[in-house]
Amino acid sequence: MRGGNTGTGSSRQGGYTQAMDLVEALRLQCEWGADEALLATPQDRRVSAPPPAAVAAPAKRPAARPATHPGAPLPAGPAEAAALAASCQTLDELKAALNGFTGCALRDTATQLVFADGAEDAQVIVVGEAPGAEEDRAGRPFIGPAGQLLDRMLGSIGLDRGKIRIINTVPWRPPGNRTPSDAEIALCLPFLHRHIALIRPRILLSLGAVATKALLPEAGAQGIRRLRGTLRETNIAGLESPLPCLPSYHPAYLLRTPMAKSESWQDLLQLREWLETPIITKT
Ligand code: URA
Repeated sequence: MRGGNTGTGSSRQGGYTQAMDLVEALRLQCEWGADEALLATPQDRRVSAPPPAAVAAPAKRPAARPATHPGAPLPAGPAEAAALAASCQTLDELKAALNGFTGCALRDTATQLVFADGAEDAQVIVVGEAPGAEEDRAGRPFIGPAGQLLDRMLGSIGLDRGKIRIINTVPWRPPGNRTPSDAEIALCLPFLHRHIALIRPRILLSLGAVATKALLPEAGAQGIRRLRGTLRETNIAGLESPLPCLPSYHPAYLLRTPMAKSESWQDLLQLREWLETPIITKT
């Protein structure tokens, strides 16, 4: 989430007690996920808020609109997301559809959509979890520290960004870098599937538990440590046959757990070997 702005600039005005209140207010915003100031000038929203008397109570509470009211817009849910995604015939259409999709609340706190990076005819699609702060600012996936490690990892088996496609399970940054919820993932899944179906890669590399769970729902509660390194198949809406999917560790995990890099290296070698195996076409 962007947007913490508690007005610490005026913290000295009201003495020690008020300063403490402001610190508490700032701490609370941080707990909610605010991690970046939006405005150059601090604003004390408590001071600029209209005095209570100015906020007149509504004379009469409006009657609740029934959910079935003919004109009531329904919030876009997974079914609407699936229909919208399925209607996209090109990647540009998919990007425009996502930009106009209001069903996922993550877009409200993100700076912008982080659609994808890399080749539109890639043989490999790398699927991450969600954009972080740097990706959110730049509108490109995997450009922060985890992305730089990913570049080095892929480079070690002769792949670079220009040759592969990089996308995320959810294309908007969750506030405070929290894990996207199951509901958010479900809303974004049709777009992820459509992205994959439009590119028609040979293989998917799913990085971390979130992407792997989204792409291999039948793997159930099994953790990434169990799933990594084993090639599986996944059904992608819009593709006639299942796609191979290789789960591996997320580079952000590898940054925190360098010991796991050797397992990750084994996974990459497996990916390279798989890509080097000639495609046998039936005659
Ligand atoms: N982590 C991800 O999963 N995706 C990004 O784009 C950046 C960090």
